[in-house]
Amino acid sequence: MLRRPRRNRKSEAIREMVVETRLSKSDLIYPLFMVDGENIKQEVSSMPGIYRFSVDNLLHEISECSNLGIKSFCLFPAFEEKHKDKYASISSHPDNFYLRAIEKIKSEFPGVCVMTDVAMDPYSSDGHDGIVENGEILNDETLEVLGKMSIAQAKAGADILGPSDMMDGRVEFIRELLDDEGFTGVSIMSYTAKYASAFYGPFRDALDSAPKSGDKKTYQMNPANVKEALIEAELDELEGADMLMVKPALSYLDVIKELSNASNLPIAAYNVSGEYAMIKAADQNGWLDGEKAMLEVLLSIRRAGAKIILTYFAKEFANLNL
Ligand code: PBG
Repeated sequence: MLRRPRRNRKSEAIREMVVETRLSKSDLIYPLFMVDGENIKQEVSSMPGIYRFSVDNLLHEISECSNLGIKSFCLFPAFEEKHKDKYASISSHPDNFYLRAIEKIKSEFPGVCVMTDVAMDPYSSDGHDGIVENGEILNDETLEVLGKMSIAQAKAGADILGPSDMMDGRVEFIRELLDDEGFTGVSIMSYTAKYASAFYGPFRDALDSAPKSGDKKTYQMNPANVKEALIEAELDELEGADMLMVKPALSYLDVIKELSNASNLPIAAYNVSGEYAMIKAADQNGWLDGEKAMLEVLLSIRRAGAKIILTYFAKEFANLNL
């Protein structure tokens, strides 16, 4: 036998030498859930180890993660039902707790990267990412709301805005508004290929943000499609996105690969709540080794071509000190 591939696997030293993909803490963005109030740290029941924090506890969490080497965070607010309305009005109200928290984080930890979520669902009484009129999600009218929300988040100090709404034309709309208002340095990580997925279930529990009627299929993508993801990617690039995201990650590794071949922008993938919950549930039942499964999953997302991974495992990964 002239070729024996096993020779390159014969020792730890050689395996490490020929390794093709490495994971690093600096690749990770840690999503964090927030609620209004004080001294709150409630575990999300479908996401063991993940909490909804009030801002005081959130600051501790960020400081702890930052000491572990996690420097980037994506923040999601859970608003009480009484603050929600049809137009997500509170989303751009300068003293809502989400915007105040961003300000606080940036003033206490200026070196930390804060990414925000741009979409109407946490603030919408309809639980949709856009304005609902007669059962339809209005695109262009929604852009106005997203624009105001974006400016409010930029004013609060956000480093990266993450439009997760999937309305057409929103990246350009937001980019132009930001530039007009002097926020030329604020980045946009577009949720480029966001699929209508069953894997967002635990996230909607965490934020109480499930749609009150219908589903999100007229704006989020059909899991059957990948060419359409390339159209979305092309548009987001032309519209001024700085980074492109695929979401969810695991059932869409081929989409990550296609986007990383097609674009020179950094590609991100969102290892979503349901993907986290599956591993935690199996681990808690003793059905698999959760830590090993986590490492394999994160590695596979990197290998597929994602430079950046948004993952609820970020802190746990950092704690391993690999
Ligand atoms: C909504 C939004 C969702 C997630 C991030 N932003 C859920 C949805 O579209 O219903 C899901 C994230 C996760 O499941 O971890 N704008």
